[in-house]
Amino acid sequence: MTRITIEQAAQYVGQRVVIPGWLYNLRKSGKIAFPILRDGTGIMQCVAVKSQLPEELFETIKDLTQESSIIVTGTVRAEPRAPGGYELDVENLEVVQRVPESDPYPITPKEHGIDFLLDHRHLWLRSRRQHAILRVRHEVVRAIRDYFDSHGFTLLDTPIFTPAACEGTTTLFEVNYFDDEKVYLTQSGQLYNEATAMAFGKVYTFGPTFRAERSKTRRHLTEFWMVEPEMAYATLEDVKQVAEELILHVVGRVLANRRRELETLGRNLEKLEAIQAPFPRISYDQAVEILKKKGSEIQWGGDFGGADETLLSEEFDRPVMVDRYPTAVKAFYMQPDPERPEVALGVDVLAPEGYGEIIGGGQRIHDLDLLLQRIREHNLPEEAFSWYIDLRKYGSVPHGGFGMGVERCVAWLCGLDHVRETIPFPRMLYRTRP
Ligand code: 4AD
Ligand code: MG
Repeated sequence: MTRITIEQAAQYVGQRVVIPGWLYNLRKSGKIAFPILRDGTGIMQCVAVKSQLPEELFETIKDLTQESSIIVTGTVRAEPRAPGGYELDVENLEVVQRVPESDPYPITPKEHGIDFLLDHRHLWLRSRRQHAILRVRHEVVRAIRDYFDSHGFTLLDTPIFTPAACEGTTTLFEVNYFDDEKVYLTQSGQLYNEATAMAFGKVYTFGPTFRAERSKTRRHLTEFWMVEPEMAYATLEDVKQVAEELILHVVGRVLANRRRELETLGRNLEKLEAIQAPFPRISYDQAVEILKKKGSEIQWGGDFGGADETLLSEEFDRPVMVDRYPTAVKAFYMQPDPERPEVALGVDVLAPEGYGEIIGGGQRIHDLDLLLQRIREHNLPEEAFSWYIDLRKYGSVPHGGFGMGVERCVAWLCGLDHVRETIPFPRMLYRTRP
């Protein structure tokens, strides 16, 4: 007999198959039981009819407990009314492990508080909603890789233990390395990307990054995944172009391949279908004007807070690109605008519907003297940056790139109000377990 997954059911209508999985839920009456099976690819209702099964087997099915592991044998039947479109008429059911009544599965169909659920994240992952979100995440990751792999970018993984800050010294996690040497968990692979870009032209790194921010917001994790492309001989405009193409590619792929999951999450698909080129492009100056009109306290020169980003993104039905922020509020490596050095050739992309910044990037300083000046102004240890400075001595060229946070992207695409559900095991200010 053929062993299949629930996702494959459509190809096996009328056939006898075996599906290994877990009992998601059970409805029953005297003569019929409906074990709801989940197998990691989907959820399927099974139908066990008393009159058609050995008595002992029917009793076993009726007494099944939530999340017991089971292997079901039966015939696939198309059932338009069933969630997923197919049902399984049960012929046999083997119990691999029965969850005892004395210690039942802790997450029941009733409502649980968020702390309880996060404490049981190792089990919560099995629920339908979490399953849908994390499948969208996988599709996002896959789409990102495919985009870069098919556009001439070479993947070059950058280190996680680093000797210096990339995004400011206040958000570094320090690690005791050997012999009292201090290293830090990376905040961004960008600086190393700049080195690999000079060797390979177009590169990207994709991995976990860390921020010791004491921010307890719906957008902050202390450990998150970021994809960072970097391109030699590139300007701010090139960076924006790639950012736009990448987002379009990711949205398109999620809509094409994960529509069912988005529906499970109750996502408004029209909002995602509206994501088309070109994205609006505005300057920081214009953004400040918009914000003031909308009642924000922002003054020229300040960085946008989460609330400002939300206000701004509500103005547009697609991601908005905001460029030329004040040099003073941005990282040390940002190239100043030659026409107007008080603003930097950086860009943030804000997702629509109030989801805030999903991409940050821009053009990097390529002039040796200016870079040295900035490293000093920012009180960064010149010693630790000597290799980075070398890049401005040996064949320096205009270059740029960006970082896109996977979790913020997934939160936006899934329509979630917090990033904590977008990663299998979130790490936040007050959460390092399980
Ligand atoms: O804007 P950020 O800090 O930019 C950089 O790190 C650059 N060095 C990237 C580059 O140019 N190569 O971070 C980039 C993105 C943000 O737009 C956001 O999507 C995400 O990373 N991000 C976070 N996501 C979750 N939790 C946090 N604490 C995040 N901080 C940044
Ligand atoms: Mg940023």
